[in-house]
Amino acid sequence: MRIKHILTTVTVMTGMAMSAETPVYLDPNAPVEARVEDALSRMTLEEKVGLCHAQSKFTSKGVERLGIPEVRMSDGPHGVRAEINWNDWGYAGWTSDSITAFPALTALAATWNPEMSALYGKCVGEEARYRDKNVLLGPGVNIYRTPLNGRNFEYMGEDPYLAGEMAVPYIQELQKNGVAACVKHFALNDQEKWRGSVNVDVSDRALYEIYLPAFKKAVQEGGSWSIMGAYNKVWDQHCCHNERLLQDILRGEWGFDGAVITDWGGAHDTKEAALNGLDIEMGSYTNGLTSESEFGYDDYFLADPYLDMLKSGEVPMSTVDDKARNILRLIFRTSMNTSKPFGSKCTPEHYAAAKAIGDESIVLLKNTGILPLDGNKYNSILVVGENATRCLTEGGGSSELKVKDYVSPLSALHALYGDKVKYAKGYVSGRSLYEKEDVIPQEELDKLRSEAVAMAKDADVVIYVGGLNKNAWQDCESTDRREYSLPFGQNELIEELIKANPNIVIANITGNAYEMPWIEKVPAVLHLSYLGTMGGASLADVVAGKVNPSGKLPYSIPVKLEDCGANSFGVESYPGVETENGPRQKYMEDILVGYRWHDTKKIPALFPFGHGISYTTFAYGKPVLSAKQMSEGEAITVTVPVTNKGAVGGKEIVQLYIGDEKASVLRPVKELKHFDKISLAPGESKDVAFTITPDDLKFFDDKKHEWVAEPGKFKVYIGSSSADIRAVDSFNYKYSLK
Ligand code: GLC
Repeated sequence: MRIKHILTTVTVMTGMAMSAETPVYLDPNAPVEARVEDALSRMTLEEKVGLCHAQSKFTSKGVERLGIPEVRMSDGPHGVRAEINWNDWGYAGWTSDSITAFPALTALAATWNPEMSALYGKCVGEEARYRDKNVLLGPGVNIYRTPLNGRNFEYMGEDPYLAGEMAVPYIQELQKNGVAACVKHFALNDQEKWRGSVNVDVSDRALYEIYLPAFKKAVQEGGSWSIMGAYNKVWDQHCCHNERLLQDILRGEWGFDGAVITDWGGAHDTKEAALNGLDIEMGSYTNGLTSESEFGYDDYFLADPYLDMLKSGEVPMSTVDDKARNILRLIFRTSMNTSKPFGSKCTPEHYAAAKAIGDESIVLLKNTGILPLDGNKYNSILVVGENATRCLTEGGGSSELKVKDYVSPLSALHALYGDKVKYAKGYVSGRSLYEKEDVIPQEELDKLRSEAVAMAKDADVVIYVGGLNKNAWQDCESTDRREYSLPFGQNELIEELIKANPNIVIANITGNAYEMPWIEKVPAVLHLSYLGTMGGASLADVVAGKVNPSGKLPYSIPVKLEDCGANSFGVESYPGVETENGPRQKYMEDILVGYRWHDTKKIPALFPFGHGISYTTFAYGKPVLSAKQMSEGEAITVTVPVTNKGAVGGKEIVQLYIGDEKASVLRPVKELKHFDKISLAPGESKDVAFTITPDDLKFFDDKKHEWVAEPGKFKVYIGSSSADIRAVDSFNYKYSLK
């Protein structure tokens, strides 16, 4: 083989040397498609197959002979992961790969501010470019179906419209750095339990109305240059080589022209991978992610076994040309894009961006007036909780980050309030990663709790900073949470702290909803996710009132787990059941995910989707519709005046939901169709305008396989949350008679 290959190479090189001018594929001014075709025409079969699989943990092959570089990939959605060894999961121990950790994407979603998404994509793209990565493995847009999903912190909430709107700017700005986004995990990877094998049974309506829209927007509006196949199955076929997902929907219906990359170890069959649109197989070893094996990279499904099938004619040569084209296009957009900038990392601008996003992500759930905390009113402020000091960028799985700097809540509160601030850990959680669990002795927990309670008695006010963390079975990849309540004995601790000192602010850091049995007894609750490098500063500034909180929940917080649709049908719905053909689950809540469930089943959430209050108040005036009748091809403008009635400036997220009053199919009471975040000075008013089009009225008709708006009455809900509706109006839609 080698001798023949070398002879071929020499022949081709001789041919190339003959043409003096620059080959088209090397001409930066040539159109990408011309470069693709020229490069393809010069490649051998082996070189084309070589493009289709990993050659190391995080790189796939280029074409050495033609000077086409390898594809260098890196996690993750919140920042550039530390360098990993060439061929094992260990960290390489570099000293030049510390970066800025940006807020978790669920925090970005909680800002409801597409400008923050654009800023995020720009900055994380600059860091990925500086670290010389061609593909950044994110953003994640899987839907928040259950509060037990260990990876919800990496995603953008329960509503497909919000998730899509908040993913697009991130992707667009990231890719301006010549770094490809890799929107993930396509599709229906909405839990971690059995993620590698669970077969999801979902209706086409739920698939098209809930689980696909954010991916579709990421592809069609975001222009994502790559997409990651999910580990799980749907229609009994692995997503990484799923014919309907990748060929019919992604390529056929959406026109995706990027590269499909597996999740690591997500390929399981050569013929399916050859025929169903997979382009690059990544992973550790062919038989999965973590188990060592005798397999090398040439044994991957899309390596020698694929080459053999091509040579034997078992699969057509056109399949490898299609794959090579998609991969070459990715390469010419990234590593061989000579006009890309040079990036930067850990800059003041990036820290300021992380802070601004974090500031806007914090959700004030409840406040009877204790917040903002006026330092002059208190002589002693006790901070309690492990999350006040723990570095929360570590752990959680592939999105973990090695930060250059980390501002903890305790250090930021101390910087603001000085020596008035005292600290008690209150609880510890250990380091349980990847299904290995540290068990904390009860006596240690009791000791920490009694110390904190004793100190609380002597303090003027208590700030509790707990929540979840990135341990296994918390907010962590490859495991789901085992309970809806706070772990590590925190509820008992909080109850005892309340008894010791009712002047308490709860500021829990989590990527998920959780049970709040003490909610009636506390004067204030802040809900924030993992905010990265500047997270502590964001929290402290909100507590002190330097920042007026303006985040809103991107997911519902049910009173109890059974109030969540996915968790109200038993194990078949979540987490699924084991069968002789592997685990299977049925999305039995169907289209009624999140607030759609709470509204339709009339089960009030403890805190509803879209909820978040401010240190000021906003009054909504009467909405005005430009018309009360709309036909196909027409639009209605809705204008609503919003006024800041308080004494401090603030930002309000005005939400517009649409409800179909009489549909031929089951539809949610209302669905989010528009939102706008506005900034108002004290006393200031602004008219917020939205444009409603027939697309906003449609549901997916799975019989006709098309989106349909039925004639009839539609309601317009203007809200400060999905449950805090400030105004309702209606209009009639009818098919155009022309
Ligand atoms: C992991 C994750 C995926 C990540 C990849 C590489 O299993 O599911 O999100 O990008 O492997 O680490």
